[in-house]
This record gives sequence, structure tokens and C-alpha cells, in this order.
Amino acid sequence: MAIIKGPAEWRSVLLARASAYDPDGSLAEAERAGAWVTWRKTAPTQSPASIIRSVSTADLRGRGGAGYPTGRKWQTVAAQGSDRRYVVANGYEADPGAQLDRTLMETDPHLVLEGLALAAFAVGARESFIAVKATYTTAVRRLRAAIRSAEEAGYIGQDALGAGFDLHIELRELQGAFVLGEETALLRSIEGKRPQPDQRPPYPAERGLWDKPTVVNNVETLAAVPWIVANGGEAYAKLGMNGQAGTTLVQLGGTVNRAGVAEVPMGIPLRDLLRGVAGGEPRGRLKALFIGGPSGGFLPPEALDTQLTPGSLSEMGAIMGSGSILALDGTTCLVDLATLMTRFMGDEACGKTIPCRIGTRRLYEIGERYITGRTRPTDQQLMADLCSDIRDGALCGHEISATNPLLSGMRYFRDEFDAHILRGECPAGVCRPLPPVAAQTPAAAPVSPRA
Ligand SMILES: Cc1cc2nc3c(=O)[nH]c(=O)nc-3n(C[C@H](O)[C@H](O)[C@H](O)COP(=O)(O)O)c2cc1C
Ligand code: SF4
Repeated sequence: MAIIKGPAEWRSVLLARASAYDPDGSLAEAERAGAWVTWRKTAPTQSPASIIRSVSTADLRGRGGAGYPTGRKWQTVAAQGSDRRYVVANGYEADPGAQLDRTLMETDPHLVLEGLALAAFAVGARESFIAVKATYTTAVRRLRAAIRSAEEAGYIGQDALGAGFDLHIELRELQGAFVLGEETALLRSIEGKRPQPDQRPPYPAERGLWDKPTVVNNVETLAAVPWIVANGGEAYAKLGMNGQAGTTLVQLGGTVNRAGVAEVPMGIPLRDLLRGVAGGEPRGRLKALFIGGPSGGFLPPEALDTQLTPGSLSEMGAIMGSGSILALDGTTCLVDLATLMTRFMGDEACGKTIPCRIGTRRLYEIGERYITGRTRPTDQQLMADLCSDIRDGALCGHEISATNPLLSGMRYFRDEFDAHILRGECPAGVCRPLPPVAAQTPAAAPVSPRA
């Protein structure tokens, strides 16, 4: 995936070494570019508690979608009275259209591993895992080679750095559905069990892998840690915009002039992302942004002042999710796309919870009736009821977010839905809805989307 460079004044934390060394080359070459420098300096001299303090001061938030404070999670794990603790780096990247984590792991595998080592040291974990999607064969190869070379150099393994602690990192290749990226499903998969989410609480920080306290962090979250430890939490916090901390990866695509992965300040307004980083849209006619991956939400051009943070996006009906941002123009039918995403989410559900397994299927069927002109008079009310039942019965975030595409579409693009439902027309000319055979009931009260 192409890497889009931001303006020179933006500090790069995650992609700074993107072409500074050959990830298939030697450890010595990676070290000349700065790999493992922080780890070698820090681990023998700093206390685990001071590393957690730096991460808390940095206000580093999880980049796996929900934005949970990383320092707080590490503190919880470190405080558990247990003989064993684990750290798991989530590199599964469930969204099939996203390549942010993949880009990071392929271009700078040592950075991710160094962050993982610092996390393990900070919480007192002797064993850690990095879980990577099995189809990411280049990332898997480079990470395996990087783990081997770090072990051979004595940076990790038995008596790491000769400093008296053990730190083993094991790579697990995982393959499964979208929901496998959810943390409890990921942990069950590493344990060799059926990868289905568990009810939380207890959270993995208290009872995770083999019931032991476990940090689960996205690979991007961990990759920020070496910079934070080297430069201090306050310096990292200042890298964001509008009161937000640090930088984040986004993937810009759809009808933009520059598509690819970019590292941007957290909190940047969507307008600056689209116009500045992605170079605007070639035809200049933005219809909607689709943000967060298959379970994300549509936002209209009027929402371009929204800041890029999990909280702001969720308030608007989208999610940070996988970090993917698609610009769409008038040639895309949002009813069609929302229906497709709902179908995907239904197919990828694990089946443990009935409102999710059956409810998302029924939702998809309503969407399909909209786009094929077979709308029934009760469909709109049924859709509203289903969305609220599905969210109320949620066992994991998959089910809650599965309703986002349809709900955000109905919220901001009501006219386009009404054109399909009431007049049998598709303004984008994509679907072929037939004229309705019966008068429709008035629109149901909208349900607000949620992350
Ligand atoms: C359906 C579903 C899929 C998810 N997929 C991913 C994923 O692919 N990668 C990821 O890091 N987090 C994913 N998450 C979030 C994880 O459950 C978890 O919150 C995250 O890995 C924690 O790391 P963080 O605190 O660094 O964000 C998913 C959550 C849900 C509900
Ligand atoms: S909500 Fe859906 S994906 Fe989550 S456990 Fe239930 S069936 Fe599985």
C-alpha cells in the first residue's frame, strides 16, 4: 500500500523508518536506522512503573478502534497478583479492505516488536504473542526473521539483555472471520479453542489468556511506545491536534486524488485529511465519507469539521474502527453499499448470540428488498425495531456496530433511502428498484447509531 507523506512539520512516529532500512535485511541495518535503541537503553535502567507512567502521560489510546487508555490497561495488568501475565499484539486486522497494520508490520517489523517488548517488561509478562492474519505472508516472514534476530542478539529470550528477566515472543498466524479480531475471540484462538467472543467483564486485563491477566493491544498502539519512552509522554501528547494526543494511521481511499496509508495527528478535522492529505476528490463532488471499515458509518460533506477521534466519530454515527476512510461520489448508491456491509457483518458473525446471527441476516434482507424494489409496508418499522433489538442483545461489539452502515445511511441520506422505498428509484443509477406496489407506512423514528 502506498504511503502518503504529510507536511514536513508533522512528526512521524509510526512510519518514520518506513524506507530507512530493508525489512528483509540484517538486524545491524535495522539498528543503524534506530531499531531496538530505546529497548537496550531503557530495560536495564528504567523501572516498569516509569514506563507505564510515560505511556499514561502520553495519553496513548488504543488504535484497535475503541480508544481505551493504554496506560490504564497496563496498570491494571501490572497490579494483578498473578504468577503469570501475558501481552498479545493484535495484528489480525479484521477489515479485509484495510492495510494499515499490514503496512506497519511489513515496513518496520522491529518497531512493533520493540513496542511489544517494552509492554511486556512494563507489566511483568515473560511470554508474549503477536497474532497476525495468516494471509499477510510478507509481514509474517519479516516478523519471524525479526524475532529470530532479536533473540540471537540477546535482546529478547532467556535473560534478555543480560538484565535478569525472560521475554519470549511467539508469532501466531490466525485465519478466520471478521470477529476473530475482537480481543476475547483472539485469545481463545491462541489457546486453540473455537474463536468466539466471551462476555466481558471480566476483561482480559483481569482474566485473559489461560485465565491470566493479559494486555491486548493493537500493533499500532504498541509501535508508538518506543518513541514515547525515548522522547517522553508529554512530547507525544503534543503531536496531536485539537487537544488530542499523538499520531495515528489512516487509510484514505475511494474517489480521492492520493490514496494510501498516512500517519496524521490525532484530532485532525476530516476536511484537512481529505483536502490536504488525500489531495481532494478528482471530480470535486463528495457525496459521503464511509469511515471505519465494514461496520463503519456514512457521514455527509456537512460533517467535514468532525475531528478524527473515536469519540467524535462515534457521536456522529461512524467509528474509528479499522482507520479506513473512503470518499464516495454520486456514482455510489449508499443503500446498496450499506446493504452489502450489513450482509458482510452478518456472514462474519460467530453465531453465539441469536439477535446478532439472525438479526443481521434479517436486516440485510430488508436492505435487499429496498434495492430490488420488493419493499414491504412494514419494512421501515421492522428495521428500526431490529436495530434496537440487535444492539440491546449484543454480546460483543460486532453486533452493535453491524447496524452502523444502515443507521448512519438512514440518518444522513434519508432522501436516497426514500427514493428506493417510496418511489422505486435509485438516484445513483446503481440498483434497479421496482416501483412500489403498496403505499408505505410513515418513516419510523430514527434510532441513533453507535460504535
Ligand atoms: C468485531 C470486532 C473486530 C475487531 N477487530 C480488531 C482488529 O482486527 N484489530 C484490533 O487491533 N482490534 C480489533 N478489535 C478491537 C479489539 O477487541 C481490542 O479492543 C483491541 O485489540 C485492543 O487494543 P487497543 O487497546 O490497542 O486498541 C475488534 C473488535 C471487534 C468488536
Ligand atoms: S454478538 Fe455476534 S459476533 Fe459477537 S458473540 Fe454474538 S454472534 Fe458472535
